[in-house]
Amino acid sequence: MSPSLPAAVEVVILAAGKGTRMHSDIPKVLHPLAGTPLVQHVILTAQELEPHGVRVVYGHGGELLPATLCASRVDWVAQPEQKGTGHAVQQAMPAIAPDSLVLVLYGDVPLIRAETLRPLLKAAAGGALALLTVELDDPRGYGRILRDHSGAVTGVVEQKDATSEQLGIREINTGILAVGALHLKRWLAGLKADNAQGEYYLTDIVAMAASEGVTIVAEQPRAVWEVMGVNSKGQLAELERIAQRNRASDLLERGVTLMDPGRFDLRGTLTVGRDVIIDVNVIVEGHVTLGDRVRIGANNVLHNCTIGADTIVHPNCVIEDSTIGDDARVGPFARIRPGSRIAGQAHIGNFVEIKKSEVGEGSKVNHLSYIGDSSVGRHVNIGAGTITANYDGANKHHTVIGDNASIGSDCTLVAPVSVGAGATVGANTTITEDVPPGVLAVGRVRQKIIEGWKRPAKKP
Ligand code: UD1
Ligand code: MG
Repeated sequence: MSPSLPAAVEVVILAAGKGTRMHSDIPKVLHPLAGTPLVQHVILTAQELEPHGVRVVYGHGGELLPATLCASRVDWVAQPEQKGTGHAVQQAMPAIAPDSLVLVLYGDVPLIRAETLRPLLKAAAGGALALLTVELDDPRGYGRILRDHSGAVTGVVEQKDATSEQLGIREINTGILAVGALHLKRWLAGLKADNAQGEYYLTDIVAMAASEGVTIVAEQPRAVWEVMGVNSKGQLAELERIAQRNRASDLLERGVTLMDPGRFDLRGTLTVGRDVIIDVNVIVEGHVTLGDRVRIGANNVLHNCTIGADTIVHPNCVIEDSTIGDDARVGPFARIRPGSRIAGQAHIGNFVEIKKSEVGEGSKVNHLSYIGDSSVGRHVNIGAGTITANYDGANKHHTVIGDNASIGSDCTLVAPVSVGAGATVGANTTITEDVPPGVLAVGRVRQKIIEGWKRPAKKP
């Protein structure tokens, strides 16, 4: 907890809404933004504030929310019937100590930043009701902030309850607020559902605070996108672009060259060295680390991988749950599947698939090959069209290829099998028995020359 806030902070995240306009069977707050469920963004931001507790009020979608987000250290509060934002907060209050500060966030407002919330908590710690408000050119649909002649906030009126004069107000309620639990408990107990929507409005506490003479503070976020909510796929797509633009700006600031910041998607975390260059249409998922001077070509998908310094990934590769060493070359059109470790200076070329295999330093698999469940040593050359036949229809088997071995083009290595260090396998050989070190293994039909052979001619 921050030393400036003597009281414990309790965050209540409202996430029980149905999200009808998403036209989806998935609860709204589980839709991903930048690869992470909407509500998870809010949970992570809440946790940055080091609160005493984070409670998520859920309803629509049943247990899917707690089940999907079971790894998040939060408390789940059920609100089986959605009777309004006031009713939702009420569900979380019994577990909250009266001397704590309550911060209300929305599960469908994902881009709110911790630095915007801290002043609200500070004001609430001083005894005020702190609201986050914003001025919009088009305030339609939102609750409007009412102020008296001196400019003091006196209440919030919902769109559906507003007079035509009030509808002209452009300062709106974002819904995010902070206040002492003691005040909040008292005000919530007094809520009535006598309004256009027949709901218990959390916003009615503002007028209660004003009538009790409690100070009402209205803070504004630095950017409007921080308080933008998701109610439709259109708004989700809009926020996705904003989130990606922010991530791209952050990477540019850290010195990454993005050939087009508008054509880069980060759906996880990216750790980068110096002078990294990323071409267009690259998607980064999970945790990805790129060493100094790494170059990622166009149209690559990088998922949970580490790529060493000076390595070049040419266009159109998919690299998943794998490690690539320093100064290696991958692609174009390579697929590195989970559990692969490609050592430094190795070359993995076009139309090559590597699965759960190690490829040693300086080894080359340059064309049209499948290497699965294999250990390939150092400085091995694997010719075009080589296949490790790792699957017998029931079980997977291992292939071992020793250092400096050379495998000719179009070979099949039927696992389990090993090729010794320095051995050579002739082109078009099917290896079914272990090859000792240093030998030549050839297993193909010998070439015949038939002199004077006549091709069949077409019948008249
Ligand atoms: C609310 C505010 C409005 C504000 C707007 C900002 C009230 C009465 N009005 O209106 O002043 O301008 O948000 O977007 O608070 N929820 C629950 N349980 C419920 C009802 C809602 O968990 O019973 C959750 C929703 O999932 C959503 C949030 O609370 O995350 C807001 O609910 P919503 O119905 O969108 O409120 P608005 O009518 O938009
Ligand atoms: Mg809303």
